[in-house]
Amino acid sequence: MNKTTTFTMIKPDAVINNYTGKIIDHVLNAGFSIQAMKYIWLTAEQAGSFYAVHAARPFYNDLVSYMSSGPIVAIVLEKENAVEDFRKTIGATDPQKAEPGTIRNLYAKSIEANAVHGSDSDENAQIEAGFFFSQFERF
Ligand code: CMP
Repeated sequence: MNKTTTFTMIKPDAVINNYTGKIIDHVLNAGFSIQAMKYIWLTAEQAGSFYAVHAARPFYNDLVSYMSSGPIVAIVLEKENAVEDFRKTIGATDPQKAEPGTIRNLYAKSIEANAVHGSDSDENAQIEAGFFFSQFERF
């Protein structure tokens, strides 16, 4: 099977709580390799643009404030079946529903401050990786 790409962010709650190292270790132990990584503090405009797909959702404004409330770590990952396998590795969006041993089960605080983001499709993985890293931009 060919390797594919997914994109993740370690979110402000996890960075502030010093979970960055543990989460990266968990991801590497799950068989992913890092293609690009960046520590960055998003502006509200950048966070709003990244999550524009959710602009009509009731949680959008809170999500934008939260994602610009502290630094994040943006990471492009590679593995066979990367998108689906990474979503299994992180667990459900709501940490209360995340399987034991998943990253969100271990490190997330709430449905909003849920420790990590994971792309939901190959197409979105490319778009999201391109948002942070010019080498992944598709013209
Ligand atoms: P993420 O996988 O980054 O994609 C959208 C984010 O919106 C999600 O993780 C959560 O951080 C946030 N969010 C806040 N409230 C909700 C909700 N009720 N349903 C889904 N996502 C939510």
